[in-house]
Amino acid sequence: MVKKIDPCTLVLFGASGNLSRVKLMPGLFRLDAAGRLPEHMAILSVGRSEVSRDDWLADIKGMLDAKFKNGYDQKVFERFIARNHYFANASDDPDAYKKMSATLGDAKIFPQNFAYFLSVRPTDFAPVVEQLSEVGLLNESQYWRRVLIEKPFGTNLPSAQDLQARLTKHLKESQIYRIDHYLGKSAVQGIMLTRFANAIFEPLWNKEHIDHVQITNNETLGVGERTTFYDATGALRDMMQSHLLQTLALTAMEKPADLKPESIRAEKVKLLQSIRPVDVSNINKQAFRAQYKAGRVCAADGHGENVQGYLEELKRDGVDSSITETYAAVKLFIDNPRWQGVPFYVRTAKRMHEGNTAISIRFKKSPMQLVEGQHQNWLTINIQPRECIKLEIESKIPGLDIATRTLSIDAPQRQKEDETIDSYETLMLNLMEGDPSQYLHISEVEAQWRLVDPIVKAWAADKTPLHQYTAGNRDPEESSVIFETKDQFWRYSIELGGDKH
Ligand code: BG6
Repeated sequence: MVKKIDPCTLVLFGASGNLSRVKLMPGLFRLDAAGRLPEHMAILSVGRSEVSRDDWLADIKGMLDAKFKNGYDQKVFERFIARNHYFANASDDPDAYKKMSATLGDAKIFPQNFAYFLSVRPTDFAPVVEQLSEVGLLNESQYWRRVLIEKPFGTNLPSAQDLQARLTKHLKESQIYRIDHYLGKSAVQGIMLTRFANAIFEPLWNKEHIDHVQITNNETLGVGERTTFYDATGALRDMMQSHLLQTLALTAMEKPADLKPESIRAEKVKLLQSIRPVDVSNINKQAFRAQYKAGRVCAADGHGENVQGYLEELKRDGVDSSITETYAAVKLFIDNPRWQGVPFYVRTAKRMHEGNTAISIRFKKSPMQLVEGQHQNWLTINIQPRECIKLEIESKIPGLDIATRTLSIDAPQRQKEDETIDSYETLMLNLMEGDPSQYLHISEVEAQWRLVDPIVKAWAADKTPLHQYTAGNRDPEESSVIFETKDQFWRYSIELGGDKH
């Protein structure tokens, strides 16, 4: 169902940055091409440097050319370009925000509902909001005013609460859109529908039938140029604190009363709040961390590539030692009637043998072991790169003997003719529609930090050198220390069939 969007202006802070060049501008263009932007919609890009409108428009053309190598519709291009404007927000100009307000005040060019996308340094979130407020640009007396905050929302619970306090001096909760781009991924959005639109899953989705759940994000990429950011952050905060805990919440939450944003978010909050805090006195049985060392990974073109270890990459930037994890695996339990006693293993790692994000669910042993070697059923919801649902069942091997083997029912969720939509496209559309259901409520952010903070703290206090794993390999053997039972093991890509079967 196409929702109506009010005439509006998207004000893009950090417009010349990488995210905007690679994802946001091309994403807005595609929304325009799909007829999803309202006729009266303008984009005001805000950057530090003085750039003329003509030069900015030429820059945008370059971004689109780089993204859409096969070309694009000229008519759409002209319509899109006409929507675009540039504002230089010089950091040394005390009147910069007054000038921005005067520019945006021209209602003929800029529809007066404003959506601000803050693709800026996290330390700038609150100052930008404060200055917008000072010049009246957040005032909702006549028009809506919304602010999208990029991640991370704080670096721990106190800093997230501090940011929240600063924002809410100027904004109501309904005006704040905290982004987690995983919630814009179509396969992540599909988790809830897969669960609740199919009568066959719900009766099995509980502790009676499920042995354990694995939520995995493996990447072949290393930390790249982001060493400073990454070394201060680590895998736990970078990936698990929001992306993977959100994925877990969608996998495990109760059915919302309806699809209203408040209903969905309320169920996610309840779930996140019922995850048992990790027992830090026994941290080595609950969480495992490691760092990649030099090795060989499979590059995007399919060829092998020798890569440096994490510590070598840091050395290049003048840092001599680090106990920041690039691999993190954590065991969580959910204290509610549905999930009591079922381990949820959440793991994320850079420089693995493959890049794959998945939810893998292992069912309990069937009550009768009719033949030897009977495997347990697995259901995998694969998020990326391939979006599919795979169910593994035991089936008789045709022939004279009674023996079973595992068959896999593999349903691709994406069909050839389906649209490929970047998560930022969906989320920008939701922002303009005023639909916060795929954005984080502050209670979710707080619950996530409450879970992650104690582990970060315990790991920071433990100065023993980290376990090293070779880049391009699978999980370090030692990580299996967190499994509850000896017969549990890490699942890998559905395509490679890389499990122990
Ligand atoms: C980002 C992290 O939020 O998500 C990156 O900062 C990570 O380190 C990325 O690589 C993963 O996103 P995606 O969409 O590629 O799975």
